[in-house]
Amino acid sequence: METYKRPRLVMPDSVEKNKKIKTIIDSLRLSNDQVKLVMSTLQAEMTLGLSKDKKKRDSSCLPMENTYVRSLMDGTEEGDFLALDLGGTNFRVLLVKIHDGKCESYQQNYNVPNDKLNGSSSELFDHLAWGIASFLEKEGLKEKNLPMGFTFSFPLIQKSLSSGLLSMWTKGFKCTDGPGLDVVRLLNEAIARRGDIQVDTVAVLNDTTGTLMAGAYLDHHCQVAMILGTGHNACYMEHLEKVEKWEGEKDEPMGVAINMESGALGDNGCTDFIKTEFDIAVDKLSHHVGTNTFEKLFSGMYMGEVARQVLIKLTQEGLILDGRGSPELFTPWSFLTKYISMIESDGSGVFENTMDVMAELDVEDFVKEEDLSVIKYVCSCVSLRAATLIAAEIAVLIQHIDQSEVTIAVDGSLYKYHPKLHDLVLDKVHTLVPNVKCKLILAEDGSGKGAAFVAAVATRLSRAAKE
Ligand code: GLC
Repeated sequence: METYKRPRLVMPDSVEKNKKIKTIIDSLRLSNDQVKLVMSTLQAEMTLGLSKDKKKRDSSCLPMENTYVRSLMDGTEEGDFLALDLGGTNFRVLLVKIHDGKCESYQQNYNVPNDKLNGSSSELFDHLAWGIASFLEKEGLKEKNLPMGFTFSFPLIQKSLSSGLLSMWTKGFKCTDGPGLDVVRLLNEAIARRGDIQVDTVAVLNDTTGTLMAGAYLDHHCQVAMILGTGHNACYMEHLEKVEKWEGEKDEPMGVAINMESGALGDNGCTDFIKTEFDIAVDKLSHHVGTNTFEKLFSGMYMGEVARQVLIKLTQEGLILDGRGSPELFTPWSFLTKYISMIESDGSGVFENTMDVMAELDVEDFVKEEDLSVIKYVCSCVSLRAATLIAAEIAVLIQHIDQSEVTIAVDGSLYKYHPKLHDLVLDKVHTLVPNVKCKLILAEDGSGKGAAFVAAVATRLSRAAKE
């Protein structure tokens, strides 16, 4: 990965034009004071979210949910486990074989068609049950009743390790019902409706929790996990003493994984001071207006749209693309986040990928070199803001768990495919918390494999309880 240099705009000739461009794009810059304020706000919202006092909890935008995951793997887990992973526009079914401390996995991806994103929850869960059945058929496992972990990457209020009520749909999901319902029950009912398979759903979890589990399997310093994909969220191992709202015994083990739902930071207005006109426009176009404010600033589903909003403004002000753009450019969501990754992959003075993106936007015949430079600059500023906010969150978590060495496990397409994000984030984290050794590792398929790991731990604990 090349070392990242601060974005620099190779300016068009006119000084006046340069000034106007800079003013528009500069609103994406975060000052050090703003970053510090984001950090203290996040810490305050976390504390409120963990509070005993319901009023305080309700005032926080962060649910800081108890995941009921208390133990990471200890290496004695054995057996074959299934995982179902739903969170984006496709879902996966995995078979994870854990033997002698080693793990092998086999998986199949399935599409979630548009009508299932907008239909009833039972239609969606029937589709998931179909995917499980077709996977079991393919693997010759239809007659078995394996323990399964279910990664369900939406806000859940968990009642136990194996039950959770959906708070609300997020990202591109807009089913006509679901909030308030137990998603494990919905899955079991769909499986029962089919009548041809048996699966024992022993755990339901968020993708961040799965990633934490998978990260801890790779590196025992891992206590924080983050999703940088379609959506954004973080999870970390918390001491029970700090979980004021904990209702059970404060018994061993003394930790619990907390699903922050940090994508919702700012839903109560606490981070309005960093919102730009572009973010307000993205929110207005989104499926769930007024929610998941932090996530909308940079996650994979929204980051391209943030950039497109800036490009539209520059076009409308006559500063790029002859002031006319193209119907493609003016179509909401047409500027995919992967275009930012493509453009950010072009070295300095190179516009090869940028031109491919221009062709997608149907402006390749009239785009000028100075436009290309401005468009590249916009993408680098959007990326830098993303990295700065992600780093601010990581810095808060590092300070909060108060260890001298921390590994953060990350999963998600934005992190995997953005050519500079890893370095940018790490750089900024080092500036914000210079005395802590911090590593960011890719926990590939963590959200899926981690579900099987949680199922494996749950199976180990229930076997031990019976002995
Ligand atoms: C959204 C969901 C959250 C999930 C994240 C990453 O923010 O609400 O539960 O973890 O996306 O997939």
